[in-house]
Amino acid sequence: MAKKIIVTGGTGYIGSHTTVELQQEGFDVIIIDNLCNSEKEVIDGIEKITGVRPEFEEFDLCDRNKVVDFFRNNTDIDAVIHFAALKAVGESVNKPLLYYHNNLVSLMNLLESMNQFKTGSMVFSSSCTVYGQPVRLPVTEKEPLQPAVSPYGNTKQIGEDIIRDAVTSSGNLKAVSLRYFNPVGAHPTALIGELPRGVPENLVPFITQTGIGIRKQLKVFGDNYNTPDGSCIRDYLHVVDLAKAHVAALKRILEGNMKNNYEIFNLGTGTGVSVFEAIKSFERVSGLKLNYKVEGRRAGDIEQIWADPSYANNELKWKTVSTLDEAIKSAWDWEQKCKSKH
Ligand code: NAD
Ligand code: WQD
Repeated sequence: MAKKIIVTGGTGYIGSHTTVELQQEGFDVIIIDNLCNSEKEVIDGIEKITGVRPEFEEFDLCDRNKVVDFFRNNTDIDAVIHFAALKAVGESVNKPLLYYHNNLVSLMNLLESMNQFKTGSMVFSSSCTVYGQPVRLPVTEKEPLQPAVSPYGNTKQIGEDIIRDAVTSSGNLKAVSLRYFNPVGAHPTALIGELPRGVPENLVPFITQTGIGIRKQLKVFGDNYNTPDGSCIRDYLHVVDLAKAHVAALKRILEGNMKNNYEIFNLGTGTGVSVFEAIKSFERVSGLKLNYKVEGRRAGDIEQIWADPSYANNELKWKTVSTLDEAIKSAWDWEQKCKSKH
């Protein structure tokens, strides 16, 4: 019988792409999302791609009674992939309590119910933000974590701690935290993708929105960093590659292949890309000249980070396959498809 997987935040950007990969691998998916940062229509896109409509439950994971009721009524859940969270770094600085409440209460409600109803497996969305500016590059999972620069980042560090402690104290729970680097792009069908609300904070949606004319000009935040071209360096990975890593992590747990009951993996390409290189990639794949201007540094930005993904490559038998151009081309295709929605 097909394994039943809860995907929290499944109508969101990464959760929707992961739902597609899960369904294509034969898993049954129940999405839980309160639609605070996504649209219900995303489910239509998932159905068009896979031919299967995932089940959908609309509620807030901070509502403890709803979470308990859900688990009470669904005793055949095999695992939870927990994407649901608020993720805007800037907003988290202005509304820290909203971020701590939403991201941590939802996580604890899930873990408590998983303990109570003996659902033993969780995959958690963590972030490379937990590393701050690492001393050694590429960064491995062994790198000591730095104090978080934003409440958002802190929710990921605390979230990892909560999960580790919950696993240690439980005879039943197993979990994997996946530290994503910078996910970009959209599904190759352009039926699902990233839908930023308002002005995007992230580079690639800002580039594509500038390309299509929604934004007048991209601001490049700094060209005087200690990097080859002076702009910041990140590790941009295609969201479909990222989604596939979740399937690999899930199978590792469910098939009993973990080395410890709690494991952490970096998910990135292993290659650093500068802001100017990302702009050049967009210009190559779109055939457009991007309107951009160098501005001052953005507060809180780190200079450079890219992943050492070898632990995930070896243990999850997963690696990224898409190039930067393919990822940015898919983001551009999606932007053009969405033009009417803005
Ligand atoms: P997203 O905002 O597109 O998706 C998150 C989903 O969770 C949304 O659909 C939202 O409605 C839902 N949600 C939030 N709070 C909820 C709650 N209390 N109850 C029910 N649903 C709730 O974000 P995303 O980019 O898909 O990110 C998914 C996860 O990956 C998040 O945990 C995020 O912090 C993490 N992450 C994202 C990135 C990135 O750059 N996108 C990088 C590293 C880590
Ligand atoms: C990338 C680069 C900017 C916008 C954020 C979160 C992090 C993680 C990933 C969730 C930087 C530059 C950007 C613009 C620019 N998310 N830039 N002009 O900063 O690596 O990380 O997303 O966990 O927590 O902080 O990603 O896409 O915002 O920026 O020049 O308009 O692009 O300075 O160098 P970042 P980003």
